[in-house]
Amino acid sequence: TRVATSQLTKMAWQCKAGVDAAPKALIESGLLTQLRDELNYKLHGDDEVHLYTDLVPKEDPPYRNMKNPMAVSNVTQKLCDQVYSHAKEGRLVLTLGGDHSIAIGTIAGSAKAMRERLGREIAVIWVDAHADINTPESSDSGNVHGMPVAFVTGLAKEKKPEYFGWLQDDHLLSVKKLVYIGLRDVDPGEKRILRENGIKAFSMFDIDKHGIGRVVEMALAHIGNDTPIHLSFDVDALDPMWAPSTGTPVRGGLTLREGDFICESVHQTGSLVAVDLVEVNPSLATDHVGASETVRAGCSLVRCALGESLL
Ligand code: ARG
Ligand code: MN
Ligand code: MN
Ligand code: MN
Repeated sequence: TRVATSQLTKMAWQCKAGVDAAPKALIESGLLTQLRDELNYKLHGDDEVHLYTDLVPKEDPPYRNMKNPMAVSNVTQKLCDQVYSHAKEGRLVLTLGGDHSIAIGTIAGSAKAMRERLGREIAVIWVDAHADINTPESSDSGNVHGMPVAFVTGLAKEKKPEYFGWLQDDHLLSVKKLVYIGLRDVDPGEKRILRENGIKAFSMFDIDKHGIGRVVEMALAHIGNDTPIHLSFDVDALDPMWAPSTGTPVRGGLTLREGDFICESVHQTGSLVAVDLVEVNPSLATDHVGASETVRAGCSLVRCALGESLL
């Protein structure tokens, strides 16, 4: 039997209300039942969407320009512990967000668990319209969801434990083990960070030029065989035609099939240890169809990553 665990996060302090409705909507549409009954996973975890309101402080003023810094730090630290303890048992960890700031916790947790369990560094495949690699100083918005990669790679450093200073060396991801797919809205400061650190990134241009098959092949070649893979999938990587209900949609994105193909290919490596699905936000749709289509696309991506195949 395959073993998975689900982390269902509802993040109450979101700048955009409604990201919290996503895990619920994904579950209500039958995702966990499908994983259990059709893909034969034994699920650990309680099918509950956690609020973590106890971790959200009453006062949380900006720090180094970050919005809700303490709340996000506290919750991601909690997520890190949870992902770590499941991953250490050899379970594939599925986290349904929530916005992309949750990846600070999920990646930190997998990185530490794989170092201890396998003595290996993890690789991260970050599928997104955005690079989410701003440092607090390079960010124009102050939104932590635009910074998770900077924190987990150690490019953004902070000593105070209540502001992500809880991240230790064993939580960190090497920039050499990071690869992006789907980029098309990268801030000037982020472009500089990508260039200066030699980070591998496949933009929509590369996908148009080489096709998704070749791009995924190159992405997997970059991280190398025999590396545990953490897939962090932002639903806004998909074109808004397929996933309109998301906080920062950008036109000119992946088709649903291209997204599914990435997930299917990563599954086929046999090295997948964790999956995040983030930025599904049913409340942002202008109509009911937009919300349910986005949820449906999200479910499809997860099922493909967890091994559903066409034949
Ligand atoms: N680069 C912009 C920022 O730093 C947008 C980030 C969008 N990220 C996301 N997870 N939706 O604010
Ligand atoms: Mn957000
Ligand atoms: Mn993102
Ligand atoms: Mn994005």
